[in-house]
Parts: sequence; C-alpha cells; structure tokens
Amino acid sequence: MLVPVAVAAAVTTALATPSSLTCALGPSWQGLHGSLGPARRLQWPKKQKQCRRKVYAIDIRAQFELKPPPYPLDALEPHMSKETLEYHWGKHHRGYVDNLNKMIAGTELDELSLEDIILATYSKGDLLPPFNQAAQTWNHDFFWESMKPGGGGKPSGELLELINRDFGSFERLIDDLRSAASTQFGSGWAWLAYKANRLDVGNAVNPKPSDEDKKLVVVKSPNAVNPLIWDYSPLLTIDVWEHAYYLDFQNRRADYISVFLEKLVSWEAVSSRLEIAKARATEREEEEERKKREEEEKTSDGGEVPEIYVDNKSDDSETE
Ligand SMILES: [Fe+2]
Repeated sequence: MLVPVAVAAAVTTALATPSSLTCALGPSWQGLHGSLGPARRLQWPKKQKQCRRKVYAIDIRAQFELKPPPYPLDALEPHMSKETLEYHWGKHHRGYVDNLNKMIAGTELDELSLEDIILATYSKGDLLPPFNQAAQTWNHDFFWESMKPGGGGKPSGELLELINRDFGSFERLIDDLRSAASTQFGSGWAWLAYKANRLDVGNAVNPKPSDEDKKLVVVKSPNAVNPLIWDYSPLLTIDVWEHAYYLDFQNRRADYISVFLEKLVSWEAVSSRLEIAKARATEREEEEERKKREEEEKTSDGGEVPEIYVDNKSDDSETE
C-alpha cells in the first residue's frame, strides 16, 4: 500500500506547558514534489534541531515502527519457513528501522513520512546516509504485504486486463518478473509497477514521457533502490537479497523466485495497489490541469489591455 508508515508517539517528558509546535511538520508524501521539492538538496549532517511537538503535558517525538507481516511468522510454511521470517523480519528488517530512527533523530527528516525521507535522501542518486535504511524499511513493509498464505494463482479483473494489454499475457509477465529477479546482480529487488504519465520528475535522472506511460512495467533495482524514486507506483516486489532465501534455498535463487510466484504472491494486494495508483495518477493529472488553467488565466488577465482610440477630429468634423 502506498500509504505513509504510521509513526509512534513516544512520551518522553512531562511538561505543564500549553500546546506549541516547535518545528514545522513535513509535507505529506503526495505533497512532497510541491512543497519540499524533488530537486532540493538536504545538507547533511543537519544541525541538531529538536523537532518536538509539545501538547500540554506531553512531548511527542516521531519514531518509525517495525511493522509485523500481516500473517503469523509460520503462516507461509512450507514455502517460506518461520526461521527465514524470524531472521529476515525479526533481525534484518528490524535493523533497518532501528538504524533509520537513530540516523534521523534531531534532523530535518525527523518529522517526514517514510516516503518523503526516501525521496529527499535519494538526491538524484547521490545518496544521503539515511536513504538505504529508509528505503529498506519501506521495501520490506511492501514485500511482506506482497505475499499471503495460500498465494499464487492468477489475477483477475482489471489487473489481468492490463497485464494482457501491456505484456501480451500473464505468462509473459511471469517470465519478465522471473527474468528481472534472477538477473539482478547481487542484492536488490524486482518490481511490477504502474508508470504514470509525469512530465516533471525532478528527483530522478532518467524518466521522460514515453510510450510506456500509464502502463504496467517490470523493473529491477540494486540494493535499496525502489521505483518511488522514478515516481512509479510499485505494485509488487520480490526481495532478491540473499538473506531472503538462503536459509530455505541456499544459493538457489531461481527456486525461491518460482516458489514466490507460484505459491506466495498476493494478486489481491497487487489489485488493490493498482486501484490506488490509478486514482493517484488521475488526481495528479487533474491537479496539473488545474494549475495549467490558472497559469493561462493569469497570463490572459495580466496581458496588455487593448487601447481604445477615439478619433475626436473625425467626431468634430461630423458635428461641424
Ligand atoms: Fe530483505
């Protein structure tokens, strides 16, 4: 789901003071491009600014939580073992969340959503230190929700229609996902994403309008990088870091990918994400149209007023 990760409010002190906001809250994910600005470069390290919101007797400070998978740790057996979940979620994912919280404490990032932190610290590929921790936190939340007990099978409805339109067939999509996941050299991720039509993606180097707009695409990414930084809407991911499969499959990544696609993937989650992605794309298009209209109206309002000349001589002559 493309929603900000909930932050936990930690009560740190007890102050008998009235409500006051000691620093500006960060923009929402959807508002990031407009308010923070994708091309804005953060200075790092930041001065140790305390971003704390004092609400009467409570001093609240944002912390990201380690979200549990939406099923028990043994629920994916026998395809993904409880032991793998205990290490992958309980140790690796937890490590990313803990490190992220330590790295952003007291910085400008402290009050941003997880997505905003990812976009701000990607910095056109010149990664700032918290990027890997933030992106890996987001990627793993997304990965757990990409699977379900009794998963696999075939999608239906609009998702299947778009798959057939953009890949030719469901089997071709599976081949493309399998290929992306198996050929990602070293650690990384394979993705199915919805590529909306965006003319201005200042944070990323490569996206330009193309025939691929408003289509489903399969992409792969190294290390912690995810399609959010290209302004794509991720729909599905396969974690191909070795820690995702080594306990169950040792070095047989191809077997792990097959089991993921045949037994674990949740096409229901992908369908829900597609609906959100399309709604978001429509909302952005309407917003861009509205801004364009406002600009045009401003231009026409501020344009030169046509001057009206009165030919007095001619009027006089007529009266004479
Ligand atoms: Fe992982």
